[in-house]
Amino acid sequence: MALNFIAKLLLVLTFAAFSAGATRSQLKETKLTVFFHDFLAGPNTTVIPVAGIAGKLWTFTQFGTVYVTDDPLTATPDLNSAVVGRGQGLYVTSGLDGLNTHVLISIVFTNKNYNGSTLEIQGTSKQFEAVREVSVVSGTGKFRFARGYATFETLLVDAATFYSVERCNVTVEHY
Ligand SMILES: *[C@@H]1O[C@H](CO)[C@@H](O)[C@H](O)[C@H]1NC(C)=O
Ligand SMILES: *[C@@H]1O[C@H](CO)[C@@H](O)[C@H](O)[C@H]1NC(C)=O
Ligand SMILES: *[C@@H]1O[C@H](CO)[C@@H](O)[C@H](O)[C@H]1NC(C)=O
Repeated sequence: MALNFIAKLLLVLTFAAFSAGATRSQLKETKLTVFFHDFLAGPNTTVIPVAGIAGKLWTFTQFGTVYVTDDPLTATPDLNSAVVGRGQGLYVTSGLDGLNTHVLISIVFTNKNYNGSTLEIQGTSKQFEAVREVSVVSGTGKFRFARGYATFETLLVDAATFYSVERCNVTVEHY
């Protein structure tokens, strides 16, 4: 009886492993690029510090500072190019030395191709490196079960207006 049970269990496990293998082969890879427009000041600010350590200046290099962001995302570096969606979420300066920030961002698509779908970006970002790589941990809609990575590169910084543009390349596998 016990043996019979174990045999059945093995059969079930084998079948589960087989079906996982079969569906894995249906994964497709999508690569896409979106451009984040960061406004750190002015009437249309899109990145705002909302919390931090009492008595400290709330800055990107001060451990414990929490930013909320809602950046417009476009198809090219030009702010007036086609809107792809929004980059909504949090940045938390999570390195005691102020070098790393923890990124928790949803790409909320509103373009024709991916309207209503999201990608979830999460991980530590070495703020001062030319290329920052962060993991893509999941998604919704067309990106259900997505997994992959995203790179961020700063293309333009206008210190006078506190405006910058970042290129975000995403590579994900999903069903
Ligand atoms: C801020 O946004 C408003 C509404 O979209 C727009 O009319 C205005 O020109 C923007 N101001 C700046 C400085 O970008
Ligand atoms: C995206 O979906 C919303 C809600 O369903 C709809 O109002 C909007 O027109 C759609 N946008 C595009 C570009 O398809
Ligand atoms: C992002 O994509 C662009 C366009 O394909 C490419 O030129 C650039 O090197 C990519 N960046 C990274 C970090 O791979």
